[in-house]
Formats: sequence, structure tokens, C-alpha cells
Amino acid sequence: MAYRQRQGFSRRDPLARAVGIKKDCFPTIIDATAGLGRDAFILASLGCQVTLLERCPAIAVALQAGLIKANNNSDLQHTISRMQLQEVNSIEYLPNLSPENYPDVIYLDPMYPINSKSALVKQELRLVRELVGDDLDAEALFTIALQRVKKRVVVKRHRHAPTISALTPSHVIENPTIRFDVYMVTQH
Ligand SMILES: C[S@@+](CC[C@H](N)C(=O)[O-])C[C@H]1O[C@@H](n2cnc3c(N)ncnc32)[C@H](O)[C@@H]1O
Repeated sequence: MAYRQRQGFSRRDPLARAVGIKKDCFPTIIDATAGLGRDAFILASLGCQVTLLERCPAIAVALQAGLIKANNNSDLQHTISRMQLQEVNSIEYLPNLSPENYPDVIYLDPMYPINSKSALVKQELRLVRELVGDDLDAEALFTIALQRVKKRVVVKRHRHAPTISALTPSHVIENPTIRFDVYMVTQH
């Protein structure tokens, strides 16, 4: 990720567009399925404050170790200072947020069942999958997220995967393999 940051992330990337990053607009974000923190790192690198929530203790420990290590690298300190990790189940954390602490964006990238091409899945993702299995409560998390956010919920999916719920996204941003379903929220 340090290498990728040196190459520079772009506000035009699908992930950045999906969360609504613009020239002078850096939304506050809760990444409610942090995993190994790759997407959160990109968002923080582009200038957003990101709260990372991860419920699997082994993943949270690995992620915390990565954040500490990265913080020793002066090129990464700015980015890491925008990332706050909590080991918690988002389904329990989000309902306790008071309205003034609702983020602009809640980002979801749950683990979901994959097809027989799973051998092609990157090694890191395979490791996460072995530890956490499939996130079968992802739709419940999505439903809570919609009620605890100021502007939008963004769900990352494989390009041909079904939507996370029966709700139709407000718009979709995709690249050849990945799709970001964006659900705009009217004020509560
Ligand atoms: C596919 S990985 C996320 C990868 C991440 N976007 C990245 O870029 O590294 C999904 C992660 O979400 C976590 N997760 C799923 N449901 C969660 C919940 N309700 N609360 C906290 N973490 C959750 C899983 O434990 C798993 O580590």
C-alpha cells in the first residue's frame, strides 16, 4: 500500500467517486467492514477521516499491527493519523451513535459467498475468508447503516454479484471486476 500511495491514488478512482470525494470535499467515513484496511487506507490517503470497525479479533490485531508499523514510516504518518481502528461488531456499534456523530458515509465490503474461481482470489483475501467465513448478516448491517449515516452508504460488490438487499441503489460505479452500489440517504 505504501508503494501504491507513492504512485498516487486518484479522486477519479471508482472508490473515491463512490464515497463522494471531490476537490474540496473529504467526507467523514465509517468503514464498518475494515478487514485488512486496504480500502480505508486509500480513502485516508485521499484526505478522509476514516473510522475502521472490525469484529474478528485476529484480523483486528493484524490490522492494528499494520497501522503501528505504517506509523513508523514518515511517508505514511499523515494517512495513518486519519485512521482510527476499533475492534467491535458494527451491528452493535452503529445503533449507539448519536446523531452528531453520524458519518457522512458508511462503507461496506462484506465477505460474501464466491464461486469456483475462488482459487484465483488474492492470498490476503483468502486468509481473511478462512478466518471470518462469509458475512451472512451483511444485509442486517446494511439496514442499520442506512439509519446511522448523513449522506450515503456505499457497498462494494463483485461486478456480477446481486445487490446486498432488495433496495435499488441510487447509482452504481463500476470497473471491470468491482461494483460500488451507492445508496443516497435523505436527512433523518
Ligand atoms: C472482505 S473483508 C473487507 C476488506 C477491506 N475492505 C479491505 O480493503 O481490506 C470483510 C471484513 O469485514 C468484517 N466484518 C463483517 N461484518 C462485520 C461487522 N458487522 N462488524 C465488524 N466487522 C465486520 C469481517 O470480519 C472481514 O474482516
